[in-house]
Amino acid sequence: MIKIASMKYFIYTFGCQMNKSDSERIAGFLENQNFVMVKNFKEADWVILNTCSVRQSAEDRVFGLIKNLKKLKNRPKIAITGCMATKNTKELKKKADLVFEIENLHQLNNYLKKFHISGDSLKCEKKNFTDSYFKISPHCENNFHAYVPIATGCNNFCTYCVVPYVRGREVSRPLDEILCEIKNLLKQGYKAITLIGQNVNSYGHDFKKQPDFPKLLQKIEKIQSNFWLWFITSHPKDMSDQLIKTIAKSKKICRYIHLPTQAGDNKVLAAMNRGYTREKYLKLIAKIKKALSDASLSTDIIVGFPGETKAQFQKTVDLFKKVKFDMAYIAEYSPRPGTAAYNLKDNVPSQEKKRRHKVLDKLLRQIALEKNKKLIGKTLEALIEAKKGNFYFGKTKTFKTIKITNNQQLITNNQLIGQIIPVKIKKAYDFGLEGKSTS
Ligand code: SAH
Ligand code: SF4
Ligand code: F3S
Repeated sequence: MIKIASMKYFIYTFGCQMNKSDSERIAGFLENQNFVMVKNFKEADWVILNTCSVRQSAEDRVFGLIKNLKKLKNRPKIAITGCMATKNTKELKKKADLVFEIENLHQLNNYLKKFHISGDSLKCEKKNFTDSYFKISPHCENNFHAYVPIATGCNNFCTYCVVPYVRGREVSRPLDEILCEIKNLLKQGYKAITLIGQNVNSYGHDFKKQPDFPKLLQKIEKIQSNFWLWFITSHPKDMSDQLIKTIAKSKKICRYIHLPTQAGDNKVLAAMNRGYTREKYLKLIAKIKKALSDASLSTDIIVGFPGETKAQFQKTVDLFKKVKFDMAYIAEYSPRPGTAAYNLKDNVPSQEKKRRHKVLDKLLRQIALEKNKKLIGKTLEALIEAKKGNFYFGKTKTFKTIKITNNQQLITNNQLIGQIIPVKIKKAYDFGLEGKSTS
């Protein structure tokens, strides 16, 4: 009998929160099978790469890493999962020992056994499991803030995006399963929950009846415990008045809205198949600002989409000035084979994409700094996440990073990690705040 229990493993996670959360389930599964997580990949028997396909650079990093792992003296076995595992399977099978789709996580143990018996590299085919891999309990990376997936996949087919192809169609998790997972986490002492999905606000579209996303939030609100609730990502076309009302009424939902706009020009938005216009987006932002005056706002942007002219890019610059985002994740367009935009000419030169990226980054930093400066003198609650050197770091309800620069007594007290404390803001940076605990 091949003994695979007590093997050591290491997980590299690329990509978005979905992948981070999936990695926590991989860890939960393997630990249940008596695998041991190691901190250094050089000590691992198996290195698992949980991959992302969203841009070519993300895929290149994985190929580079495989090359480097293979150069190691006692090279670990390499397993690949995540979005590349459904897309680049043939190529990856040649390079790695095992390729498995995340939906097959239940079977990972069997795959590993099979590998150890045959020694051949394996590609695990998609199977029809009645049980979702979400039922596997995660081994969460931190003990006070957890990601809870509420749906997987996407039906939107934005023309540049590979996600619907690699993650499949949108499937919502049953309400009871989500509530049960949250209650379990709260029992373990978790203070903050982030609901995740590619498009959280279309939650329930695949159900015959309710619940929709606002209903789900209302059910979570009723859980009798004090905790913070965030969610990402919302799609502008599915941001209903009911949802804004639900957030405004809630004591638990934090005032942080991530609302990717991708572009500020109507022709580009239409070519991206985003399903809204610039005017609709701005109207939505106005509604959010009115109902949730203290909310922070973030977005995703793609610069250099095929055919985007300088004048069209200026529309994005103008939108930035109008909305005043606290944060933005700016990406240079990367053609993805298989997507609709792949057939369009990637005609914005790389240098021009970089220039546009820089222009937006500079503007974002200016605006974010101005907004953060207005918080000086205010006292905000912060969830303390880490201690680095002499300082604690945490997150405000608006998802801003905050550095706590208190006296020695507070700093030497390690118990603060995972606590929510009031902090008086003393300094502001573009992407962060600094302050002293007043507790
Ligand atoms: N579901 C989310 C985000 C999914 S992917 C949404 O709809 O907003 C995360 C981000 O990657 C996207 O918001 C987009 O800005 C970026 N992205 C996706 N495909 C890309 C591509 N081909 N090139 C560059 N950036 C891309
Ligand atoms: Fe991709 Fe669009 Fe779906 Fe977001 S909504 S995952 S950008 S297809
Ligand atoms: Fe990347 Fe897959 Fe997420 S492509 S962004 S890891 S859904």
